[in-house]
Amino acid sequence: MKVQLAIAIVTIALTACMKNNSSNTKSTAAPFATEVDSLLSLMTLEEKAGQLNLYAGSWEFTGPVPKDANNQQKLENIKSGRVGAMLNVITTEGTREAQKLAVENSRLGIPLLFGYDVIHGYKTMMPIPLGQAASWDAEVARSGAQVAAKEASASGINWTFAPMMDIARDARWGRMMESPGEDPYLASYLSKAWIEGFQGNNLSDEATIAACAKHFAAYGFAEAGRDYNTVDISMQTLYNMVLPPFKAASEAGVASFMNSFNEIGGVPANGSELLQRELLKGAWNYQNGFVVSDWGSIGEMITHGFAADTLEAGYKALTAGSDMDMEAHVYENSIEELVSTGKISEEILNDAVRRVLTIKFQLGLFENPYRYSDTTREKADLLTEENLKVAREAARKSIVLLKNENNLLPLNKEGQSIAVIGSLAADKDVPLGSWRAQANEGSAVSVLEGIQGAVSNKSDVSFAQGYTLTTGRRKFVYELEFVEGDQSGFDEAIQLAKKVDVVVLALGEDCWQSGEGRSQTDIGLKGDQMDLMYEILKVNKNIVVTLMNGRSLAIPELDENIPAILEVWHLGSEAGNAIADVLFGDYNPSGKLPVSFPRNVGQCPIYYNHKNGGRPATNPHDAGMVFWSHYTDSPNTPLYPFGYGLSYTTFEYSDLSLSSSEMNQAGEIVASIKVKNTGKVGGQETVQLYIRDYVGSVTRPVKELKGFEKITLKPGEEKVVQFTINNETLSYYRADLSFGSEPGQFALMIGGNSQKILTTDFRLVD
Ligand code: BGC
Repeated sequence: MKVQLAIAIVTIALTACMKNNSSNTKSTAAPFATEVDSLLSLMTLEEKAGQLNLYAGSWEFTGPVPKDANNQQKLENIKSGRVGAMLNVITTEGTREAQKLAVENSRLGIPLLFGYDVIHGYKTMMPIPLGQAASWDAEVARSGAQVAAKEASASGINWTFAPMMDIARDARWGRMMESPGEDPYLASYLSKAWIEGFQGNNLSDEATIAACAKHFAAYGFAEAGRDYNTVDISMQTLYNMVLPPFKAASEAGVASFMNSFNEIGGVPANGSELLQRELLKGAWNYQNGFVVSDWGSIGEMITHGFAADTLEAGYKALTAGSDMDMEAHVYENSIEELVSTGKISEEILNDAVRRVLTIKFQLGLFENPYRYSDTTREKADLLTEENLKVAREAARKSIVLLKNENNLLPLNKEGQSIAVIGSLAADKDVPLGSWRAQANEGSAVSVLEGIQGAVSNKSDVSFAQGYTLTTGRRKFVYELEFVEGDQSGFDEAIQLAKKVDVVVLALGEDCWQSGEGRSQTDIGLKGDQMDLMYEILKVNKNIVVTLMNGRSLAIPELDENIPAILEVWHLGSEAGNAIADVLFGDYNPSGKLPVSFPRNVGQCPIYYNHKNGGRPATNPHDAGMVFWSHYTDSPNTPLYPFGYGLSYTTFEYSDLSLSSSEMNQAGEIVASIKVKNTGKVGGQETVQLYIRDYVGSVTRPVKELKGFEKITLKPGEEKVVQFTINNETLSYYRADLSFGSEPGQFALMIGGNSQKILTTDFRLVD
């Protein structure tokens, strides 16, 4: 009887407000406030605490399995309204079953959220996020996330743990693959587009899902690039480099935030009042979404040495603003006691519950809790032609041409014999990448298949495996074993290479070399790959390397010896077709690196927006003396800088001019530059604007990306590109952490990458 009453109250309130209430997370008025409050008023303390528990489905774990995982108990807890959300429960059938437990058994019938790591696709795989970032294209991010949302929501999922917007400067860190790279401007731009793609304009649309801005914050700054390691970061770097994408996500109306595993200044993110109360829920006024912990991370505050026991961990996390506990089972064992003994006020708990319920209302779960578990859609919407088309477009736009001596590329579809060499070339699984949700194993188009499909005559293409990269592969649980010293496939590859016009040599990383828990101290090519490269070089110099990887790699030997190199990341379902599009010139490569490529691992972390320092490498005091910032065995510069990427045509930059050489804080300056296509084919260029603030109340980076524009030019065509510089462009979080600009001299730089730029100066006056 009570259940029916409660449902009736919720339903009446819901119907009354549906018409006026935009479900758009962007609306400023609290959406569904009336419904949420009326439901909240019916809830017991136990039920409120229950909404803050996020359980993993027992059949798939993406973190350490809790020792006391008791699945029977989990089921009982769902039935008694002590669970708010589940993760890793998949398929319409699985989610429907779990939803039924909550809706039909618990007193108030509050539906569950179903969260999942839909990172770069659900069934149809887009390029890994780092690859997508190389497109510098919001449409790539948006349309890929849209497809992912469509597929995931057709399979019962209504909440993705994406996008990850952690700034990544250190290639040793395995999760660089999931990141938008090293620059906060580009990361903000792409994160916003990913959120728009996942959430659309209306969360109650069946084909959209709630997104999650993660990991809040500074997870990418783990010391020595070792996953989960301590982070020690200055407030200026935190505010100016790490937080901008999160602020942009909050402004874009992202439905949730996920805390990071790391500490900042001795405070684990889950317990950080600064991050959650002061910034996110305070200064940024984030009201309509909630904060979820990472897997087990509220409990890990005890291991960090920040809480003595479960009760203290629960107290610190909830008061600091962590709303939901993912698989630590801390909230489940602390909140009722903390609130009933008055240690935590019920209003703090209510605020957390309100946030979770708001998203459930916005998703339309109270209207129909099974709306995402629709078997018809699950059959119709997955891996469709249309979705694959989006994946191919995204993949080709993500490819970066690193080198192309003597215009070896593009290749000819006719009359050119091609040897495709390397086990990665025939691999149909590696291109799917790490964090691949429900991708079917081995379902990617391989490089070999892509090439065979593109040439006029298949007999022009031959294949030899050459090397074997690993002994086998398993997601998460096993370490990879690389094959070294077994060169039995070399001879066949060498013989083949001798006979052909050109060799396409596929090198790189296995998909499980990157991703969570996959940090490495060596960021070169594993196994026998380099040996094979040298052997092939002896018999044929016309080599095109396709480099598949989930991080920036140290590949100086390739740069030195190989005439043409294509960075192809882990490109997803349509990898081979997209690579062939570029190899044969059907698509002129336009990608630009979102991260610096180091010369060697010793340079990590390496990033373009560094500080000048007092003894910079560009200013050696005395030739022959060692007293300046440098390495004795390597240049300071990266092998390929941030923003770098070639095209089959060339672009000439000239006539950099400013509308004025001076502005005040109310004014603006327009910078203009002429870009000309000086080659023989049409192409796309990403024109990049950088700024340097020479003197600040705290030191400023040597350059920072402040804008970019993608332009398409026919051969011989030229365009004037303009950027407007205003006070916002020049502002940053200053010594006292206030946001604003400081009068003085600035450099303005425009070019096709962060190193090759034209520079001029201007002044900001009082
Ligand atoms: C990862 C998160 C992920 C979560 C759930 C954690 O280990 O750090 O990014 O969303 O697991 O799978």
